[in-house]
Amino acid sequence: MSLKGKDIISIRDLKKEDIELILDTAEKMEPYAKGEKTSKLMEGKILGTLFFEPSTRTRLSFTSAMQRMSGQVMGFSGTGITSIAKGENLTDTIRTVERYCDIIVIRHPLEGSARLAAEVSSKPIINGGDGGNQHPTQTLLDLYTIKKVKGKIKGLDIVLLGDLKYARTMRSLSFALAMFDANLTFVSPKGLEMAKDILIGIEDNFGKKPIQTNDIDAGLKKADVIYICRIQKERFEDKFEAEKMQKAFRITPEILGKCKDEVAILHPLPKITEIDPRVDEMKCAKYFDQTFYGVPVRMALLALVSGVM
Ligand code: CP
Repeated sequence: MSLKGKDIISIRDLKKEDIELILDTAEKMEPYAKGEKTSKLMEGKILGTLFFEPSTRTRLSFTSAMQRMSGQVMGFSGTGITSIAKGENLTDTIRTVERYCDIIVIRHPLEGSARLAAEVSSKPIINGGDGGNQHPTQTLLDLYTIKKVKGKIKGLDIVLLGDLKYARTMRSLSFALAMFDANLTFVSPKGLEMAKDILIGIEDNFGKKPIQTNDIDAGLKKADVIYICRIQKERFEDKFEAEKMQKAFRITPEILGKCKDEVAILHPLPKITEIDPRVDEMKCAKYFDQTFYGVPVRMALLALVSGVM
């Protein structure tokens, strides 16, 4: 089994054995990700980071991952100072950048843009998020975090909470969690339920039917892991209704008092108001550890895709 030269566009492009290889390799990368050991694995290689949309964690953790392995990084964050501002199209941009580097990470607002980039590029393309569609490297680091925090994924009761309709992280993650045999509960406000195609995909591929509810109290009671994302207020016509949902679907110490003692709270970040700041200090808050795990996971992916491991 080899991931050398592979494009990573959707979590569905990866078999379970591929994901297990990435997670096992990430474990080996941890001392290097922490700076406790040094690595020359990617010496002489260049990563291109093309971020057409804002990012803190994805871009910087890929940068850290590459630099921790002695590789180099070039690219842009925002298109204002590139020739895209003059009207250059995505395919010409990719055909140019692939001649300057060895692997490309792309974040773009349009769904399908990473797949299009992969079709025109001879160098591996990694999807850093394409519109509301997929964010596969986030899913890999989410799986890794759950394994680190809980020691396993299989058999855990995992709740995905918040805007399940528009959050791309939730679409990728729910499929992968079903693949690893977690028990899924989807808790969302009315109208922001998980898309039907994802539910059908989970049932067809893994024979699982996630529980779906709009009742936050009932949904969270049994949870081993609560994975929360923000309610996207900008998508509501009625801002008052959005604010009502934001308040009702907020994680607070009071809500957590009704949950299992050992529950873990994850969030892809950035978080806005959906987690009470008092939760940051509680032992269940694992979301900043989660951001760190992005580094060893992305180190593993870069090393495997470039064929140096
Ligand atoms: N989780 C995530 O994708 O964060 P950024 O948008 O900051 O990259």
